[in-house]
Amino acid sequence: MIKKKLVFSGVQPTGNLHLGNYLGALKNFVSLQKEMECIYCVVDLHAITTFQKPNDLQNNVLETVASFISTGLDPNKSIIFNQSSVPGHTELAWILNCVSRIGWLNRMTQFKDKAGSDKEKASVGLYVYPNLMAADILLYKSTHVPVGADQKQHLELSRDIAQKFNNDFNCKDFFPIPEPLIPKKVSRIMSLRDGTKKMSKSEESDLSRINLKDNADEIIKKIKKAKSDSEPIPENLSDLEKKPEALNLINIYAEMTRKNLEEVLNEVAGKEYSFLKTNLSEVLISEIVPIGKEIKKLLDDKAHLMQILKKGKEKANIIAEENLKNIREKVGLI
Ligand code: TYM
Repeated sequence: MIKKKLVFSGVQPTGNLHLGNYLGALKNFVSLQKEMECIYCVVDLHAITTFQKPNDLQNNVLETVASFISTGLDPNKSIIFNQSSVPGHTELAWILNCVSRIGWLNRMTQFKDKAGSDKEKASVGLYVYPNLMAADILLYKSTHVPVGADQKQHLELSRDIAQKFNNDFNCKDFFPIPEPLIPKKVSRIMSLRDGTKKMSKSEESDLSRINLKDNADEIIKKIKKAKSDSEPIPENLSDLEKKPEALNLINIYAEMTRKNLEEVLNEVAGKEYSFLKTNLSEVLISEIVPIGKEIKKLLDDKAHLMQILKKGKEKANIIAEENLKNIREKVGLI
């Protein structure tokens, strides 16, 4: 039997989306919607595993929807909704809490990073976060999950949970084992201030990231201040790979100009970083600034964004309820 392909992914509404989200995830979301049925979720329940001010959370959910649409997602093609509006996510998360193993969760590096040194003070939600993520994916029997490299371990856990559920309840192939779709070149966009750390919403300095809402002056300033190297741009890839900040800038430039790293190196080898930075700022401004303008425009019409969420919720809920009926039956819940 040929299984239907279904794409699912989620983005946390924790403020400004940045270039890492865009190149690592959103661009892939957009190209996939041309080929497959896609469900894209604003994961508000994941966001509250660390404290969010209620008003900020509401605004950030709408801003994330606006970012989805501004980068090219079409609510008539893809299902776009917020996680808490479909109750099946939490119901399945509970069932999967009972399938997943403590030993598996103890290996999750993102929990260790986010919980910091005092794990006793982290919320229980943060600890079981990966089980909720598995529920998001499996609730729709998703087959493909586009994400950046930082989500790889969570995806592997989702696969283990799907497998264990299928074994425990003797229902081979009930949950498809979801395939991660991780872009090759830009799976991990790094901070502009430290090429060994990923670009992230949670890094304190705003200079570390390009936000989708940044204007041209902000982009120029951030790229100018981005850490690079005191020596000219290396001639070959192996030398470049020893310089994480330089590699990151060239990687971003290659992706934005749709060239491969070798082609870009041919263009810029031996030159000063200021040359690369000028070109990089230009391509970023031409692609990112219009997105930011569109986000701001969409945010002026909150009713329209709410309508997109409502329509998406209705469609998502139909698939979720149908699958949940079968899941409850498999588990023996009446
Ligand atoms: P989140 O909200 O942190 O990030 C959203 C997406 O952006 C990718 N990403 C990056 N890619 C490349 N370089 C970076 N510096 C970078 N930073 C972020 C992430 O990999 C992600 O694809 N747990 C998820 C949300 C989630 C989810 C799901 C994803 C919840 N349920 C189910 C897939 C399927 C998260 O926190 O993503």
